[in-house]
Amino acid sequence: MSKAQIGIYGLGTMGSALALNIAEKGFDVAVTNRETEWIADFIAEAGDLARNLHPFERLEDFVANLATPRVVLFMIPSGKPMDQMIEAVVPLLSPGDTIIDAGNADFHRTRERAAALAGQDIHFVGLGVSGGENGARHGPSMMVGGTDHSWQQLKPVLEAIAARHEGVPCVAHLGPDGAGHFVKTVHNGIEYADMQMIAEIYGLLRNGAAWTPAEISGLFAEWDKGPLKSYLIEITAEILRFHDPETGHPMVDVIKDAAGQKGTGRWTVVEAVRMGQSASTIEAAVGARSWSSEKETRQTVQARLGGAREALELDGATLADAMMAARVLGHAQGFRILAAASGEFGWQLDFARIAEIWRAGCIIRSALLDDIARAFREEPPQTELILSEAFSTRLGQTLPALRRVVSAAVAGGHAVPVMAAALQWVDTMRQGFGGANVIQAQRDYFGHHGFERLGQEGRHHGPWWA
Ligand code: 6PG
Repeated sequence: MSKAQIGIYGLGTMGSALALNIAEKGFDVAVTNRETEWIADFIAEAGDLARNLHPFERLEDFVANLATPRVVLFMIPSGKPMDQMIEAVVPLLSPGDTIIDAGNADFHRTRERAAALAGQDIHFVGLGVSGGENGARHGPSMMVGGTDHSWQQLKPVLEAIAARHEGVPCVAHLGPDGAGHFVKTVHNGIEYADMQMIAEIYGLLRNGAAWTPAEISGLFAEWDKGPLKSYLIEITAEILRFHDPETGHPMVDVIKDAAGQKGTGRWTVVEAVRMGQSASTIEAAVGARSWSSEKETRQTVQARLGGAREALELDGATLADAMMAARVLGHAQGFRILAAASGEFGWQLDFARIAEIWRAGCIIRSALLDDIARAFREEPPQTELILSEAFSTRLGQTLPALRRVVSAAVAGGHAVPVMAAALQWVDTMRQGFGGANVIQAQRDYFGHHGFERLGQEGRHHGPWWA
């Protein structure tokens, strides 16, 4: 056999799907897995594609059968297992080879790993892959962080397997080392916020306006034909149509209301706070998932404090505008974190390009991202999304609806943490003169911290120190 263009280590759901996608595009792929017994099953299920898949049980044989400079892609859990595999594979590699971590990894670890391997001229790529199993198999959106050398090696394969938006592959080299994993992390933060706001609207209609899941599904299906079109709205409309084969109840009614999370949303929030930023919509979404998992505590609190929620009068058009405003604000906060990290790490992230590669293949793909990409291409370049011509106009049109929905929810005792966070953020940013003067006075009063004074240079203290 000719040597394989790429090796994939890790034949779990995502690794298998990527290997099949690459093989389908005509590349030779070497494959292996820690549990060697999985390998034969994978090849047996690959059908015709098996002709481009080359299985190996020993790591040495797997590496020896890769064309040089080699590309080894790992799709394995990102913590210790990744470190163990780097240790095992590096002695088998040569200068110029590239190792890819294609899992969801903490970008700080990616930066450290890239720096540690650079001394041996081994290139380490943090590859963000979005789109779940179906995306990996038929076209993911991919965010590449690594050297130009690695990008030149990977480009033909990644462009061939990526999702396409109007023919353009949804993959880009976004910067060095951790840039790709960081952009993927923020993607997931936006994903958390978007999922939570959809769930909040579902909750308002279900619990406040007595709509059935089927009726809510109908509303979301309508939204999916217009400016709110998105993968997450589309699948929610679909999910809400299903019934439980065991009980006949709507399927959502038999699913425990306790959301899981693997950590990317939390990483986004931690990083935002570390950089002196606040991504309140993402933080609210992470917090809402955590509270949701405290099912027993919530049941106890409901029994103690009462769980009554007032009926709401809501119409689909107002909710659509509220969803649009909240979605714009959630994305705007995500891009602000990207801007902060880009500055701190010197990545020079191309925000328009990021929005472009999120237009197809990934979980947050939506019509909105097309508009965001266009807004970032505006001249002069605008990194603050809410100040762009298109989005300040859109917010002007939709914020009244978000305010009406959040007000009604709050007055009626319904929880809408993400929509409320979005509104509070924009209301704070709309105040050219806010309330932080009082904070500064307090800090000076108890700690002699000093403050800046309007219209005067230098550091000042209040008369309380006279
Ligand atoms: C994607 C998804 C994917 C996965 C995450 C989120 O872009 O394809 O974000 O990476 O769904 O792991 O997982 P949690 O919701 O469990 O944090």
